[in-house]
Amino acid sequence: MKELRVGLIGCGFMGRTHSNAYRRLNNFFPVEHRAVLKAICDVSPEKGQKFVETWGYERAETDWHALMTATDIDLIDICVPNFAHREIALAAAAAGKMVICEKPLAMDVAGAQEMVDAVETAGVANMAMFNYRRVPAITLAKQVIDEGRIGRPFHYRATYLQDWTISTDVPQGGDALWRLDAKSAGSGVTGDLLAHSIDTAMWLNGPISRVTAKTEIFVKERLHAATGTMQPVTIDDACMFLAEFANGSIGTFESTRYARGRKNFNTFELNGADGSVYFDLEEPEYLQYFEYKNMQTGKKVESHLTGWRKVHVTNSEHPYMSHYWVPGTCIGYEHTFLNAIADFVKGIETGVPVQPDFRCALQTQKVCDAVIQSAREGRWLETGA
Ligand SMILES: NC(=O)c1ccc[n+]([C@@H]2O[C@H](COP(=O)([O-])OP(=O)(O)OC[C@H]3O[C@@H](n4cnc5c(N)ncnc54)[C@H](O)[C@@H]3O)[C@@H](O)[C@H]2O)c1
Repeated sequence: MKELRVGLIGCGFMGRTHSNAYRRLNNFFPVEHRAVLKAICDVSPEKGQKFVETWGYERAETDWHALMTATDIDLIDICVPNFAHREIALAAAAAGKMVICEKPLAMDVAGAQEMVDAVETAGVANMAMFNYRRVPAITLAKQVIDEGRIGRPFHYRATYLQDWTISTDVPQGGDALWRLDAKSAGSGVTGDLLAHSIDTAMWLNGPISRVTAKTEIFVKERLHAATGTMQPVTIDDACMFLAEFANGSIGTFESTRYARGRKNFNTFELNGADGSVYFDLEEPEYLQYFEYKNMQTGKKVESHLTGWRKVHVTNSEHPYMSHYWVPGTCIGYEHTFLNAIADFVKGIETGVPVQPDFRCALQTQKVCDAVIQSAREGRWLETGA
């Protein structure tokens, strides 16, 4: 078996999900490569050492530059806060290494464009980790739409809601709360949560051409964990935007960290002339489908039989599911990363680049930047995506 020698940077939440995916890859997917966890890197030596012990990395580094010059690493996996994505990706591409990068791709379009140029000039395989595409029910939604079952699309509706920043006592910045500091995160819920919704939306329903947005900062000042002083909050706490898709349909997107009771409430619905699909991450094994017109007969479904169908996406015919257990049994959040890594490896082996690659993630970044700018200027903006 060929080896895929991994150097992963960032021992946090995503470092764990990606490490788990590499560990499980060859247990579930018949790929030609064996993932080898060569090196882990984190600025904290304790965290790196814990990853060596927990996930079986061969060594730990505290400076990511060491991974670039290492001759025993093929793939750099970037799981650090957003501000560091660009510099690490540029160095990895210059070193001729494959790159996987967490979302959002960069702090802004300029950084994302540099990353695209770097991997394309170097000709290295690359992928942005928009893992929700790999929820089998969402992949099935893509199949249903591509089969023409929804017909002409009219409405796309996405929400991504959380509630963990309602308390004014939550500080901003520092190692744990970099997401609340624009200098580390780029933006707030737009880059953190809506980037996922936008990626999914454009995958399912095509490019978003224009947006108009409203953002809000509910708590104007927070203690900064790094400086110990009260500082203005610079990220968007909440964001709502209207979208026009290139295919003529229109969309609404809503995201906040102030929706009391919502922890990671990620939903979307697409309504077309012939049918609709609906997904809710709190019931990730289900895709809801409303069939108005039957594709085979070309006729309307008899009215007394119409209704939303809740498809339990666990059959072996469903995306990814033949790699797991018997029909009727579920997989979880962590498998979305495993499915993504398996697709990345298949992409290397078949020569058909995996999606979303950096160029694709750049389109999402364009929409995010347009959303932030639109909220600032209070007008509709072309996204250029
Ligand atoms: N795909 C998803 O659903 C998803 C979910 C959460 C986070 N993310 C993305 O993943 C990335 C990481 O987020 P997280 O939640 O894992 O963060 P985290 O705070 O849990 O972990 C980040 C780790 O990176 C380390 N680090 C910071 N700067 C570093 C540097 N220069 N060199 C080496 N290590 C460094 C920190 O010490 C920390 O251990 C972000 O870009 C985030 O947007 C994606």
